[in-house]
Amino acid sequence: MMIAITGTPGTGKTAIASKLRETGECVIDLHQYIEEKGLKERFDKKRDTYNVDADKLDRSLRENIKNEGNVFLDGHLSHFLKCDIIIVIRCSPSVLYERLKKRNYAEPKISENVQAEALDVILCESTDSDAHVFEIDNTSCTPEQAALTIKDIVAGRIGGHGPGSVNWAEEMERWC
Ligand SMILES: Nc1ncnc2c1ncn2[C@@H]1O[C@H](COP(=O)(O)OP(=O)(O)OP(=O)(O)O)[C@@H](O)[C@H]1O
Ligand SMILES: [Mg+2]
Repeated sequence: MMIAITGTPGTGKTAIASKLRETGECVIDLHQYIEEKGLKERFDKKRDTYNVDADKLDRSLRENIKNEGNVFLDGHLSHFLKCDIIIVIRCSPSVLYERLKKRNYAEPKISENVQAEALDVILCESTDSDAHVFEIDNTSCTPEQAALTIKDIVAGRIGGHGPGSVNWAEEMERWC
């Protein structure tokens, strides 16, 4: 199965992906894969990032992945690929703000990402697909715990975590 590990930048995808790798799972860092395979397209100045053709990326992965078991795809574009399961990593907007600030992101970029998280943008994009979608709140747990929960979800050992199981409405109300 192809399993997308997606989420707003800074929510913790890569931290969790590295814990999945440590437990023996096959994990592909999409950012690195796109670089290595020369799949970057036009630079989008406004978004300060390169465009990537999701169909080309999907084809390339299918040609190159020989693993017959589970393959986890770490990256905020992974939910645009033809995956069986999409795991959306979530982080409370106020904590995400601090994580992105520590990365020295410029304020407009921090705000864009914090707003996207508050408004469930990636979750909504994910539920537009045919995949089974789950959410993991990575605000207060450790990346190890989040990785174990993902393994349980994928193996069908636990329920819950469906779309809507994480929401920031209460936090947003405190701000307004
Ligand atoms: N559960 C957690 N608790 C505390 N800090 C965390 C947790 N998960 C990740 N972090 C921290 O948050 C920051 C962002 O994590 P990470 O790089 O994994 O995010 P990402 O979703 O992969 O971001 P990007 O989309 O930019 O690749 C890092 O400094 C990481 O150490
Ligand atoms: Mg990452």
